[in-house]
Amino acid sequence: MLTGKRLLITGVVTTDSIAWAVAERAQLHNAEVILTTFDRVRELTETAAAALPRMPEILTLDASRSGDFSQLADALGDRRLDGALHAIAFAPRAALAGDFLSADDDAIELAFRTSTTSYARLAGVVQQCAGPEGASLVGLDFDADGRAWPVYNWMGVCKVALQATMRYVARDLGPSGVRANLVAAGPLHTRAAGGIPDFQSLLDAYEAAPLGWDATDPGPVADAVCFLLSDMGRAISGEVLHVDGGYHSLAAPGVHAGAGRNAEVAAGQS
Ligand SMILES: NC(=O)c1ccc[n+]([C@@H]2O[C@H](COP(=O)([O-])OP(=O)(O)OC[C@H]3O[C@@H](n4cnc5c(N)ncnc54)[C@H](O)[C@@H]3O)[C@@H](O)[C@H]2O)c1
Repeated sequence: MLTGKRLLITGVVTTDSIAWAVAERAQLHNAEVILTTFDRVRELTETAAAALPRMPEILTLDASRSGDFSQLADALGDRRLDGALHAIAFAPRAALAGDFLSADDDAIELAFRTSTTSYARLAGVVQQCAGPEGASLVGLDFDADGRAWPVYNWMGVCKVALQATMRYVARDLGPSGVRANLVAAGPLHTRAAGGIPDFQSLLDAYEAAPLGWDATDPGPVADAVCFLLSDMGRAISGEVLHVDGGYHSLAAPGVHAGAGRNAEVAAGQS
């Protein structure tokens, strides 16, 4: 499905990372994968990368530093990129939990720069490195409808803004053949999720998902990302694809008869 494609994959920090599952599947689909990491987590990324089917090259990108994006493009040089995964999110605790209104401006601004505007910056790198056949940029969203959760706070705001960012990128880069999309995933046990206070309350909500939801299996999300990175998604841009067991489609989660199948059943199907 991805034979001959060169893909830039951000966001691998452990083997539980959604990005790791995408990198693994992409390699199994014969893509050349290049990862990015930054100083604070470089050793963790290298350890996780060593567990992939093939050890990939690892470039540097701190998404909170705009200058890193031009350096990333320089490091790629004249290598063509066929696609990229944006799997980056960070918010200081003050922006992620507690009193929504008392989060300080610095925390909100850092969360927005790292988690949201970085999608547009990465799009710039993809545009610069895309060949004549174009390229595909995919990002990762949570709850594309922007509802207020018991936790998540300013990260929820960042994710809604991420959708808008994606649509403007899709508008502006489409004529160069660059597609821009998001996959909105249900909650998954990753390092980032571990930083969300009371993450369990999000997991509890997804018990109502019509197909069930296995928070330990990023495979269905990774498969959807690979689809959008592949030529099978060649006419899709500006889209948010939900991979959440159908949870987003419910108006009153948990109220309908027979709400949710258990996670074991869902896991057996993936
Ligand atoms: N885990 C979930 O429940 C879930 C659900 C939907 C969407 N997502 C999204 O998936 C994406 C990946 O998260 P994950 O859950 O796999 O967790 P993760 O912790 O494995 O990945 C988050 C990544 O962001 C990177 N990152 C943080 N600050 C950075 C910076 N300044 N520069 C570069 N990279 C930086 C981390 O190094 C890490 O690799 C995020 O956008 C997250 O919001 C996660």
